[in-house]
Amino acid sequence: MTARLLRGRVLSFRSRPGARDDHGSYLFEDNGAVLIENGKISACGAYDEVRLASPLGVEVIDHRPLLLMAGFIDPHIHFPQMQVTASYAANLLEWLGTYTFVEEQKFADADHAARFAKLFFDELLRHGTTTAAAYCSVHRGSADAFFAEATRRNLLMVGGKVMMDRNAPEALTDTAQSGYDDTRAVIKAWHGKGRNHVAITPRFAITSSPAQLEAAGTLAREHPDLLIQTHLSENNAEIAYTLELYPEARDYTDVYALHGLLTRKTLLGHAIHLSDREMAAIAEAGAVAVHCPTSNLFLGSGLFDLRRIKEHGVRTAVATDIGGGSSYSMLRTMDEAYKIQQLRSHRLPPIESFWQATRGNAEALGLADRIGTLEPGSDADIIALDARATPAMRIRMETVKTLEEELFLLQTMGDDRSVRHVYIAGEIVTA
Ligand code: GUN
Ligand code: ZN
Repeated sequence: MTARLLRGRVLSFRSRPGARDDHGSYLFEDNGAVLIENGKISACGAYDEVRLASPLGVEVIDHRPLLLMAGFIDPHIHFPQMQVTASYAANLLEWLGTYTFVEEQKFADADHAARFAKLFFDELLRHGTTTAAAYCSVHRGSADAFFAEATRRNLLMVGGKVMMDRNAPEALTDTAQSGYDDTRAVIKAWHGKGRNHVAITPRFAITSSPAQLEAAGTLAREHPDLLIQTHLSENNAEIAYTLELYPEARDYTDVYALHGLLTRKTLLGHAIHLSDREMAAIAEAGAVAVHCPTSNLFLGSGLFDLRRIKEHGVRTAVATDIGGGSSYSMLRTMDEAYKIQQLRSHRLPPIESFWQATRGNAEALGLADRIGTLEPGSDADIIALDARATPAMRIRMETVKTLEEELFLLQTMGDDRSVRHVYIAGEIVTA
């Protein structure tokens, strides 16, 4: 049995903070520790108590004064878009057609996919992201490359072969039948193997025929435990085109509902321009609205309405959406999410943002019993964050007195340089 005691300043969330001063929503121990045994957290709390509960001869690693937290979770990211980030376009549809659909075609090549799987996880881990829900490309082999590398590294990853059978280059389309067959093959090969989770992944309504959305709905019924990921109401031209393609639908959300794709397992990327009816339908289904702030700003898509989303009782998540997004960092993502809410006169407390990026995103994925917290029984995917990572941060930290101030500094000024250590299932990740 391997046991390891991480000493540090420990932060772990119990529930969504209702307000800035909702101290009951989290555990914070300034002199804290996390005990790891066999890849799982077996105790977490005050150092003296956790030390007493530790086996004799336990390895102690002192990370003070760093902040020990559950690893970040990125619930919407595109594995084949590392070389799409920073592509100059007027809007979503121009960006997709000019750059994204060109780049994704390269993932037909197994060597290319294998090379990028390594680079992708290197980059996620460098940024302290220990779990992601990723879109692969339309090619089955891209999902194989993704999961093979995740398995090699013992990562808990969610991924899906993208289903898309129209309105895209020939080389990037499947059919309703082959999308169904290939997704089933990916599920059979990878779901539940190691720590892998496969997601049913119809890209969005524009690139799927009604027959393909029907096939995706069939997969969802056949595999009710699987996540479903897609895009919803990101851009006005996208919405108008979708309603032309699906005239029988009441609105964009209804397109997915009509095909059995609006469920408690559904992750709806963007979800920006929604009517009250759509928000009510999403809330009733228990689906998740995934805010992608850096992407929404970069592509000029719109300002996510977090206040209304919460008022309607819609479940939420926050994500990078690389390569529409401009940073792999969940700290940068939290910062941009905060600024978008500032523009909407909605004040977003840093404690809520840190909850969202950890436990909140784990709840969105239905995985909060395994990741997203430091609670005993959780997988030991842990990061150590440094609020003094740069000269400018060090100077600012001289005046910081509270946890809230430190978290706000981390999200406002921090990036990958603040991620000092990463543990996956209790093992330290080395660059
Ligand atoms: N809508 C459909 N595909 C995509 C994509 O790859 N990125 C973003 N941001 N939106 C999409
Ligand atoms: Zn996306």
